[in-house]
Amino acid sequence: MNILSVAFEVAPLAKSGGLADVVASLAIEWKKQGHTPIILIPKFYFIDADKLGFKPTGLTLVVPMGYWNEYATLLKGKLPNTDVDVYLLEHNGYYGRDGIYGAPSEFGDNDRRFIFLARAAFEAAKALKFKPDVIHSHDYHTAFTMPLLKIYHRKDPFFAKTAGVFTIHNLAYQGRFAPQPTMEYTGFGMEQFYPGSWFEYYGGTNYMKTGIMFADKVTTVSPTYSREIRSPYFGEGLHDVLNARGGDLVGILNGIDYAEWNPKTDKKLPINYDANTLDKKKKLKSKFLAEHGITGKDHLPLIGIISRLTEQKGIDLIINVLEDYLWNDRFVFALIGSGEAHYQNYFNYIKHKYPNSSIVYIGYNEALSHYLYGASDFLLIPSRFEPCGLTQMYAMKYGTLPLVRATGGLSDTVREFIPSEKQGNGFVFWNYNAGDFQFALNRSATIYYSSDMDIARNNAMAEDFSSNKCAEKYIECFKWALEKV
Ligand code: ADP
Ligand code: GLC
Repeated sequence: MNILSVAFEVAPLAKSGGLADVVASLAIEWKKQGHTPIILIPKFYFIDADKLGFKPTGLTLVVPMGYWNEYATLLKGKLPNTDVDVYLLEHNGYYGRDGIYGAPSEFGDNDRRFIFLARAAFEAAKALKFKPDVIHSHDYHTAFTMPLLKIYHRKDPFFAKTAGVFTIHNLAYQGRFAPQPTMEYTGFGMEQFYPGSWFEYYGGTNYMKTGIMFADKVTTVSPTYSREIRSPYFGEGLHDVLNARGGDLVGILNGIDYAEWNPKTDKKLPINYDANTLDKKKKLKSKFLAEHGITGKDHLPLIGIISRLTEQKGIDLIINVLEDYLWNDRFVFALIGSGEAHYQNYFNYIKHKYPNSSIVYIGYNEALSHYLYGASDFLLIPSRFEPCGLTQMYAMKYGTLPLVRATGGLSDTVREFIPSEKQGNGFVFWNYNAGDFQFALNRSATIYYSSDMDIARNNAMAEDFSSNKCAEKYIECFKWALEKV
């Protein structure tokens, strides 16, 4: 199958979260399974294309935007260490600046940057003579590929047999902009924008809604989240839209790439280990603590957090209980994260107040994240909502027990460790409150000091969330979508 994957992120070239990992791991598996995926993302300023071996294709794309044309070039290369083709859409006006979306405040022209990629995707496929069976687009950034396919390109023989599949990675981000520019750049015109139309949402645009409505099939990244988002509590204002497409909505659990994430072979770990050499994991923890200036505390549980610092991730619960554990040395705490300023400030305060029991790295650091997945005993993910979550899966492979709230993909992957049955791979609580969270933390400490700890670690390490199963399910979904075309 020819799959054109259009996204704003792919790991390791441009990543702000799990979306990037999933776009990469799916294509890697499809390629292994004999399909032909290509990935199209923008050529962001920070991607060192030369160093990564990208070469100009010599193609200039003429991209219609409104009543005028704009131009872009295409670079071709491989996803590092794989055989997967990646094309970078080069347009310095839109993408030749630092950052993917702009932070802390988003770029003012993101609507235009998103539409440009969506429109260019069709021109790129034609210029490359790559006739896709499926255009697979991810999150609201690339959602407009769906109406563009259905309104303009299905009349084009080149795309007449192309299905459109839209994947929701996170419903909380929707792409709400003033309508006029979007309707102009897409060429659909304001006559298509009226109350209740597939482009309209409370007087503005909502790219997520538009993608959901126009796609042949809609997927999201875990079975539980696919059910949750059909209710008002999790639907972020789009539950009615999702119910309207309910018959075409499926939840496919994300997978992870074990070639990249394996404590036995991970080059980012100073000491490698597996389920049979857990003593080495303990050495790794001691080394990590010593390198960060913490000594004499190797016997305490090391609690890790690797996360975007946003409300979604349940950081408020952590703030509620953290000092209860730090002041009397009940655990050692390490965080790698970045995000909202008030959370960053809080963790900097913790670092200064408890220098002998906390390690805080504010920022994004891929190598350090591998080290912390390996060194930690537990990883906290008390999310308010979690479409899938990858960090709990990485943690488990590294013998680090996740402590999660039962929501979305966390529900689908983590089961409470029950000592009497020796079953389970982590710790789970249900209600979003600090008491229940704290109770789960206490359960994890009890296991830590018991002989069950290695059994629980072994259970976690034995889990298989490999992306090949997930990639196969997408192919089934693509075939299903093609039945409609
Ligand atoms: P989300 O996409 O909502 O942020 P996921 O759990 O799906 O959540 O994916 C998060 C990804 O980002 C994981 O690969 C995780 O290791 C990585 N990550 C998050 N924060 C950081 C950070 N500060 N440094 C390095 N990696 C990070
Ligand atoms: C989103 C979600 C996360 C999911 C990731 C990859 O960023 O927040 O739960 O794992 O996308 O699908």
